[in-house]
Amino acid sequence: MSPPFFNNKILVRGLAISPPIVLAPMVGISHSAFRSLVQAEGGVGLLFTEMLAAKRLPHDNPFCSPLLIRDASEKPLFYQIIAASEADIAPAVDKLHLLGADGIDLNLGCPAPMQKRQGAGAVLAGNQAVLRKVLRRLRKSTELPVSVKIRLGQSLDVDSLRSFGLFLEAEGVDMITIHARLHGEKFCRKPRWEQIGAVKDALSVPVLANGGIFTAGDAKRCLELSHADGVMIGRGAVERPWLCADIASEVYGIDSTAEKRESQDIYAHFIALLEQRFAPERRLGRLKQFTRYFAASFPFGHHFAASIQNSDSIAEARHRAAVFFDRST
Ligand SMILES: Cc1cc2nc3c(=O)[nH]c(=O)nc-3n(C[C@H](O)[C@H](O)[C@H](O)COP(=O)(O)O)c2cc1C
Repeated sequence: MSPPFFNNKILVRGLAISPPIVLAPMVGISHSAFRSLVQAEGGVGLLFTEMLAAKRLPHDNPFCSPLLIRDASEKPLFYQIIAASEADIAPAVDKLHLLGADGIDLNLGCPAPMQKRQGAGAVLAGNQAVLRKVLRRLRKSTELPVSVKIRLGQSLDVDSLRSFGLFLEAEGVDMITIHARLHGEKFCRKPRWEQIGAVKDALSVPVLANGGIFTAGDAKRCLELSHADGVMIGRGAVERPWLCADIASEVYGIDSTAEKRESQDIYAHFIALLEQRFAPERRLGRLKQFTRYFAASFPFGHHFAASIQNSDSIAEARHRAAVFFDRST
């Protein structure tokens, strides 16, 4: 079967994203080891860091902060910042220039109470006066691509979403990711990809559709309904680190050159990457977080996840994973 026609490249302020399959920012998950794992499986056109507090960024040490550690091969890489005030932007951007960011994303969707209290994330999206100042400062501080990640809004209102998109564009945003859920909605709710479709055609910057893509078939349906220029994948890529490669092949007709690996080899590779990139005390927690999602794609995966959650060391987790994979083959 030949793949349907979808544009297999987008340009964001001169930066090519090809294929237009993007790994989502996820706190505790989208770190250097995970980004490299997904990259090794192929099919990913752009990587994201997890959200980074703009206020703290200038003070973080790139050689030991687990949020900033990266390998030079992780490219292109957008750093996502979360901010509540214009004053925090320029110092954060200066730091991101030093770190070699390929782009800067502003989080406008995070519903976490701490961010809400500070006026960041979803709250900043609803405060256009402050947001305008933040975006203007961001635009003035960098020539890098600037993107934002938003949700559909507080309620289903296509006109407001379209106006918001046009406002973002007018303030110099180069790409918009839309997570197809309302601000209060939980991740288990079905995403509303068609709502993106209702506004996408009015916008001239590239739009990425996000939310609830777990298979190449989901990605294709999402692109058909949203008319988006590309997709952003979160949990699906943790469950199946090869998902981006599947989407690249089945949706865009781009076959990955990466060798196909068994799940236990992928898991072992992830542990090796954690050991390569992070200090010993930083590894096990990250392995547990990854395993919560990765285990979901296996029959009896909840037993696997529970056994890793109860491990006291990487060595124990490695042994328990070997037992699980031996039994499941
Ligand atoms: C564990 C976790 C952490 C997340 N952290 C962030 C984050 O740092 N920044 C952000 O914009 N979204 C964050 N998200 C939301 C994801 O980027 C994405 O929008 C959401 O998971 C829906 O996409 P998916 O269905 O493909 O997972 C997070 C989601 C999860 C599950």
